[in-house]
Amino acid sequence: MGAGIVQVCAQAGYDILAQDISEDCLKRGLATIDYFLSRDVEKRRRTKTEKVTVLARIKGTTKIEDMANRDIVIEAVPEDILLKKRIFARLDEICAKRTILASNTSTIRIAELAAATKRTGKVIGMHFLAPVPPAKLIEVVRAETTSPATLKTVVAFGRSLGKEVLVAKDTPGFIFNYLLEALNRAALELLDRKVASKEDIDKSMTLGLGHPIGPFALMDFIGLDVVYLTQKAVYEQTKDPRNKPSSVIEKLVKQGRLGRKTGKGFYDYTGK
Ligand SMILES: NC(=O)c1ccc[n+]([C@@H]2O[C@H](COP(=O)([O-])OP(=O)(O)OC[C@H]3O[C@@H](n4cnc5c(N)ncnc54)[C@H](O)[C@@H]3O)[C@@H](O)[C@H]2O)c1
Repeated sequence: MGAGIVQVCAQAGYDILAQDISEDCLKRGLATIDYFLSRDVEKRRRTKTEKVTVLARIKGTTKIEDMANRDIVIEAVPEDILLKKRIFARLDEICAKRTILASNTSTIRIAELAAATKRTGKVIGMHFLAPVPPAKLIEVVRAETTSPATLKTVVAFGRSLGKEVLVAKDTPGFIFNYLLEALNRAALELLDRKVASKEDIDKSMTLGLGHPIGPFALMDFIGLDVVYLTQKAVYEQTKDPRNKPSSVIEKLVKQGRLGRKTGKGFYDYTGK
């Protein structure tokens, strides 16, 4: 997600500093951006010169301290409440007073993250969808503490990236993941009750409702580790037994079957 967010911001003309925990992680993210821009050039969606111009707007660092003077920082670390809170507290210490702190969290209440800072008015959710470059939507999440000025700036910023912006209230899962989780849970329950195969459950959504891919293929695409962390974060916040993380997904994650990125998840992608 980080690489995608960096790419769309650079494409829109912004000067970007990307931060990750190691040189290797950083290189992998920048290589992903290079790959997608090169594919755009091959498909004649942009020129080579445009690609070079976009890449020139992106700098990388492994030091979070380098974020000190940015106008906005968009956090996209794994979906772990404690990790995100720690990062927001650190960013609050480091960053200039004017800096807006946004989170790409799919499910964690923004108020929780804002409470780790002393700038609650400048903390907001900016939930990009995957894959970020072609996705049409950004869900902006307004906590009760988010100031109207921050909301206005971030909505305008999201639109300047060429995306449609929805504004949601600060509730676990917001709009998109609340709906998506309901579909995923129902699909897992149908599979568990042996009502149909995963292929047929997927087809009922692709052929029946025109979804581009069905729930099992989508979970594989998102990454089962990410889906698991998302479910866990919603459960930790709501304590509702209906939101318990799926034991099927937990098992697949323990086996290292994380979906497309490892070649196997619900489906087998090896050799494809
Ligand atoms: N995968 C999706 O489809 C999707 C969609 C929308 C939102 N999200 C949200 O985006 C966030 C990231 O998800 P992802 O799928 O990109 O996860 P990921 O595990 O693929 O990437 C996480 C990135 O964070 C880096 N990281 C880990 N610890 C860090 C730290 N302490 N400081 C800085 N960087 C650190 C990792 O090196 C990696 O580059 C999550 O909050 C997730 O819920 C994911």
